[in-house]
Amino acid sequence: METVVSGIRSTGNLHIGNYFGALKNFVKMQHENRCFFFIADYHSLTTHPTPEDLYGNVKQVLAEYLACGIDPQVATIYLQSDIREVTELYLLLNMNAYVGELERTTSFKDKVRMQPDNVNAGLLTYPVLMAADIIIHKATKVPVGKDQEQNLEMTRKFARRFNTMYKTKFFPEPTAYNFGEKLVKIPGLDGTGKMGKSEGNAIYLIDEPQVIRKKVMRAITDNGPTQENQEMSEPVKNLFTLMDVISEADSFQFYLEKYNSCKIRYGDMKKQLAEDIISFNAPIRERIIEIMADDTYLGKVVREGAEKARESARETIKDVREIIGFKQFGGRVKK
Ligand code: TRP
Repeated sequence: METVVSGIRSTGNLHIGNYFGALKNFVKMQHENRCFFFIADYHSLTTHPTPEDLYGNVKQVLAEYLACGIDPQVATIYLQSDIREVTELYLLLNMNAYVGELERTTSFKDKVRMQPDNVNAGLLTYPVLMAADIIIHKATKVPVGKDQEQNLEMTRKFARRFNTMYKTKFFPEPTAYNFGEKLVKIPGLDGTGKMGKSEGNAIYLIDEPQVIRKKVMRAITDNGPTQENQEMSEPVKNLFTLMDVISEADSFQFYLEKYNSCKIRYGDMKKQLAEDIISFNAPIRERIIEIMADDTYLGKVVREGAEKARESARETIKDVREIIGFKQFGGRVKK
């Protein structure tokens, strides 16, 4: 059985792009692997949230994970900040992470460009913390999107470096997990690119029906096809992609034929799409609301998750300390 680790930063609500791009696969994967899914709340500190926002965001994302079908009885779901072994491994890995290589990562360079007045050391060592998240469980597979590939490459590098330095094969080198089939990239509603939290083109799992209708009806299209079987413009192709993922095959075929015979009315198609998204979202939305109101349940999930994750983390850290050479003088100090 493979060990799978993936984290999601608690910055804002999850959208249907997150669902079809990641969560749906987490839910499938949890039954076939030893899975650890966590909320990367330490990572979210690089943008300095207020205490209220930090707590609110963590709770929201946790409820959304659960509402989507991650089962805490099957997978281990926890908060990063509950596992103090992660911070210890982070410190240890930092000793073998070089400032030069960290400065060269694309995500760091992007941040320097985008927020020049907040280039904190946490941003610089972001990939080290991420490596600690992953190798603390000796994971072999990490389901992440393309944007995280470089970070994962760094994780492999830090794992390899540790192994070389201490002449051991202790840490496996984890690879990206591609779910077997091709990953669906969910487009946004603004004509180009993928759905994203910061692009303002997303439909959130928690969006109310009226909000969804408004967003879909406003989605960008074009003037309509003038020739049969005309190639689609990107905004229209995007609407069809969404319909393909969300709606019944019949509806998708119906509008595809309308398009190909130049009889399509985008307004009708959008109405159908909006209703289909609403029915897809409804049960998830209900569960999010239900779970958000149940602090007892959330508390139990987080406590039990932390326990399971710490058990695995503790084992790793114990070995790592020994490998590095922290000897115990006359017995272990209780930690
Ligand atoms: N860096 C990831 C992101 O921004 C979040 C993350 C943190 C993560 N630690 C991880 C993902 C470990 C996978 C494994 O999306």
